[in-house]
Amino acid sequence: KFEGLALTPPMGWNSWNTFQTKINDSLVREIADVMVSSGMKDAGYTYLVLDDGWMSRERDSVTGNLVPDPKKFPNGMKVLVDYVHSKGLKFGLYNCAGTKTCAGYPGTRGYEYQDARFYASLEIDYLKFDWCNTDGINAKEAYTTMSKALKAAGRPIVFSLCEWGTNKPWEWAENVGELWRTTGDISAVYDGYIDHGTWKQTGVMPIVDLQKGLRKYAGPGHWNDPDMLEVGNGMSVAEDRTHFSMWCMLAAPLMAGNDLRKMSKETQSILTNKEAIAINQDKLGIEGFQYEDKDSLEVWVKPLENDDWAVCFLNRSAKPMKINHNWKDELITDPLFHKTMNAKEHPYKIRNVWAKSNAGDTQKPLVAIVPSHDVMMLRLTK
Ligand code: GLA
Repeated sequence: KFEGLALTPPMGWNSWNTFQTKINDSLVREIADVMVSSGMKDAGYTYLVLDDGWMSRERDSVTGNLVPDPKKFPNGMKVLVDYVHSKGLKFGLYNCAGTKTCAGYPGTRGYEYQDARFYASLEIDYLKFDWCNTDGINAKEAYTTMSKALKAAGRPIVFSLCEWGTNKPWEWAENVGELWRTTGDISAVYDGYIDHGTWKQTGVMPIVDLQKGLRKYAGPGHWNDPDMLEVGNGMSVAEDRTHFSMWCMLAAPLMAGNDLRKMSKETQSILTNKEAIAINQDKLGIEGFQYEDKDSLEVWVKPLENDDWAVCFLNRSAKPMKINHNWKDELITDPLFHKTMNAKEHPYKIRNVWAKSNAGDTQKPLVAIVPSHDVMMLRLTK
């Protein structure tokens, strides 16, 4: 793959969670405009990615090339890519390793090198590559072929594997792409799994729990992807804040999936909280982990640059929970990345990321209430 892409988790917007295949030229232009005017671009959201549904049902009968749907994209795709680039943003498209995409459009199987050249000619910057209609195909081989095809086409394109975790891409994709899905599809539901769910994923464990054990595979240029954001898509403000906080703690890609043209002030302020984003985008690229789980109050921690730490108290329960945490009682250690937070020996200053206020230091125990389905996210600085 290309060196030096996605050294921090990719940030952007993807059409799928809100629009599915109902996408078109004017939507892309309006989203690009609002990414700039709403402060999303300034906050770091760079990639505008069109998911499934951008193509015609058939390839070009003469050249075999993919064809952007002429009804949805009457001006073709290149002018749109140019428009998005003119806004200082980057552009992405979607296809699939199988014979057809999940929504039944032409897949890339057998056309890897041709499609890669097509994407390079459009000057796109990001490719999401799905896993429908792949009977009998070896995942590692299929994704490696597409990765090589992109490299051969010569344009640096972030390669996003969307294989849903079935073939454990974390074990083999570090040198194949920049991110790989670890789960099936997310939906905007907090309590989806025996009343103790956190971001429903059909029929399986809550997405947050599925990330446990995967952090050793993530780092600069190769990220676990627990799927795109559902912030602004129907959960409560507290639930959206919690969802976003956990994606920051997990060093997950931050691909907004809401209609940015209509977002509320609350949604906007969650998506553009620069202190939360700084935790996600920290240069060390260390994925956080669950440090403690006491009576439904979870403590997640993430080592940051300059010996800072992010600490997130997560209340997944239906009632408010009390934090009573004496920082000086214990060392918090990250055995995998050999980091230690030692508040016994020296104090850390505490910053409350959502209240956007300073909250004293670790000399005193932290006593606070976390409302139901909410978080308290802190940044500790030596
Ligand atoms: C799969 C992916 C989704 C989306 C759809 C498009 O379900 O996991 O993220 O790309 O396909 O059809």
